[in-house]
Amino acid sequence: MEYTILGSTDLKVSRIGLGAWQFSNTWGVTDYEKAKEILAKAFELGINLVDTAMIYGRGMSEQFIGKALKDLGVKRDDVVISTKIPGEFLAYNDVFKAVDRSLKRLQTDYIDLLQVHWPPCWHNHPTCEYMKALERLVVLGKVDYIGLSDFPVELAEAARYCLSRIDIEVLQIRYNLVERQAEKELIPYAEENDMSILAWSPLAKGAVLGKYTLEDIEKFQDVRSNDPLFKKENYEQIIELANLVKQMAEKYEKTPAQIALNWLIGYSDVIIPIPGAKNPQQVEDNAGAVGWRLNYDDWRLLDEASKKLRITYVTW
Ligand SMILES: NC(=O)c1ccc[n+]([C@@H]2O[C@H](COP(=O)([O-])OP(=O)(O)OC[C@H]3O[C@@H](n4cnc5c(N)ncnc54)[C@H](OP(=O)(O)O)[C@@H]3O)[C@@H](O)[C@H]2O)c1
Repeated sequence: MEYTILGSTDLKVSRIGLGAWQFSNTWGVTDYEKAKEILAKAFELGINLVDTAMIYGRGMSEQFIGKALKDLGVKRDDVVISTKIPGEFLAYNDVFKAVDRSLKRLQTDYIDLLQVHWPPCWHNHPTCEYMKALERLVVLGKVDYIGLSDFPVELAEAARYCLSRIDIEVLQIRYNLVERQAEKELIPYAEENDMSILAWSPLAKGAVLGKYTLEDIEKFQDVRSNDPLFKKENYEQIIELANLVKQMAEKYEKTPAQIALNWLIGYSDVIIPIPGAKNPQQVEDNAGAVGWRLNYDDWRLLDEASKKLRITYVTW
């Protein structure tokens, strides 16, 4: 495993993390033993960054992680837990209440990285109200570092303005070979400000791997049934990109997932992909995305092919 430093901290994190949204009904890993096997494989391979959220399975994901850490005998210092507080829980007192519950589910007395999951779109909580609550949690030792998920640059700036003792260390954003909007503002902003980017859906929820047929995508029952990437007009284009990913995989004797993730880390050293996995084999596969690099010409070929995509989110 390769390691990097999170933001401006001295915290060492694996260059590939593990996304734990999969431990929920949304993705289907609802059996604790299965989740434990996935986590065990990640730790065995040197992945020390686990990304969860209070909302994943309404606490199920955090609960599974907390229990697995105990059952597997993982030392607390050896794992970096990244969790997120939903935009609905951002009233000042609610921030503390939500974090207390999260700590209980995670069976720990501190959170390494707490992110605001999304801006409070419809509750009108003033930005400084919740940012000051997060800062207080750091001062009180319940949280080590904070971050923002799905925030535009303007709002990240406003949020940082509210802080007096600490800064934002992480932006968590959607970033994959198909969806590259973050390259316009968010990634340059993170690079300029010494922040890490946790790249979510780094495999475009599997779309970029070309593992599903047009018939498969019509049968999806999980979160992908409503995802615009899996609508025919988009997916037909993505299949072409996936074919190139597969060709590269053959050339490098790697897997499509390893090619897709390696391309992301090649884009910038601030990017840390957090792929989700539904079994230990996928974890192992994803962990093999580091320790080597695509050469410049091949990186560019994928770059050009991905730039040709014309994805639309207006699918109804
Ligand atoms: N902050 C946010 O708003 C936000 C939003 C979304 C996600 N996230 C975080 O980001 C993490 C990852 O994103 P994601 O789960 O949306 O999508 P993803 O990582 O792009 O895709 C995950 C899916 O791809 C398939 N897969 C994974 N590894 C594979 C491999 N090596 N070979 C073949 N197939 C593989 C699996 O599905 P199948 O086996 O069914 O094909 C898996 O469930 C989440 O777990 C979560 O922690 C954050």
